[in-house]
Amino acid sequence: MKGILLAGGTGTRLLPLTAITSKQLLPVYDRPMIFYPLNTLIKAGIRDILIIVAPDHSGHFLNLLGSMFRKFGVNISFVVQKQPRGIADAFVLAEDFIDNESTVLVLGDNIFEDDFSEAIQTFESGGRIFAKEVPDPERFGVVEFNKNYEVISIEEKPVVPKSQFAIPGIYIFDKDVVEVAKKLKPSKRGELEITDLHKHYLKKKMLDVRVIDGAYFDTGTHESLFMAGSYARDHDFHSRFHPMVNEAIAEFNTEFKKVVSLKK
Ligand code: TTP
Repeated sequence: MKGILLAGGTGTRLLPLTAITSKQLLPVYDRPMIFYPLNTLIKAGIRDILIIVAPDHSGHFLNLLGSMFRKFGVNISFVVQKQPRGIADAFVLAEDFIDNESTVLVLGDNIFEDDFSEAIQTFESGGRIFAKEVPDPERFGVVEFNKNYEVISIEEKPVVPKSQFAIPGIYIFDKDVVEVAKKLKPSKRGELEITDLHKHYLKKKMLDVRVIDGAYFDTGTHESLFMAGSYARDHDFHSRFHPMVNEAIAEFNTEFKKVVSLKK
């Protein structure tokens, strides 16, 4: 299974913070946001990861993560998304990287407490997405279930949501997703919509939706960014990071300090 981390976008809702850096490099308590979705992938056993970044910030991501995980056996590569064409564009940009395997895509501004190891390791074919009860489903793709938790409908940011179940930003698809994504047409807001991929698999009865119950933050707004940082601090989130991620950050800091002292 390959992993894609989508860390481009414009982050307009977080202006002026995002006028000078990427949303995914903003701090969530004591570390840049991107370490949270990266940890989600690494914790789930993914060791081959493609990070998709926006042109203005690609150098920063490379400096931070380019060699941080090499000695831990995690292969990280990068692709630049020239324009924010939508979340589903990730599968088009990653065609060569995916190379006919299954893929898990995680959004760079999504913070999960849940461990996805089992869901990822048992995945065989079709699509597997997740549902999380939230107070503000209108901000998300929303899934409607019947009594047996079978999916009835999926809608992108509905004005009147049919349920409280949001589709959070982690999606598992089989290799066919590349061809399906390539055929998508931009929506009214001009983006290749991830919801259209979900609908494709739903129509083919190949979409599995699992409810998650751990803490979840989509840090795209000032309020949710603040809440995520505060949760990370108050719930000792970092002790539940994969030890390798914590070790890699600690080593990076040590190396960084050495370089700084040599410069003096
Ligand atoms: P969004 O939060 O939908 O978009 P955004 O980050 O551009 O923010 P805003 O709406 O405030 O302008 O994106 C969700 C995640 O996906 C986020 O981590 C950025 C990433 N993304 C891309 O990398 N490329 C894209 O084309 C889009 C639309 C999003």
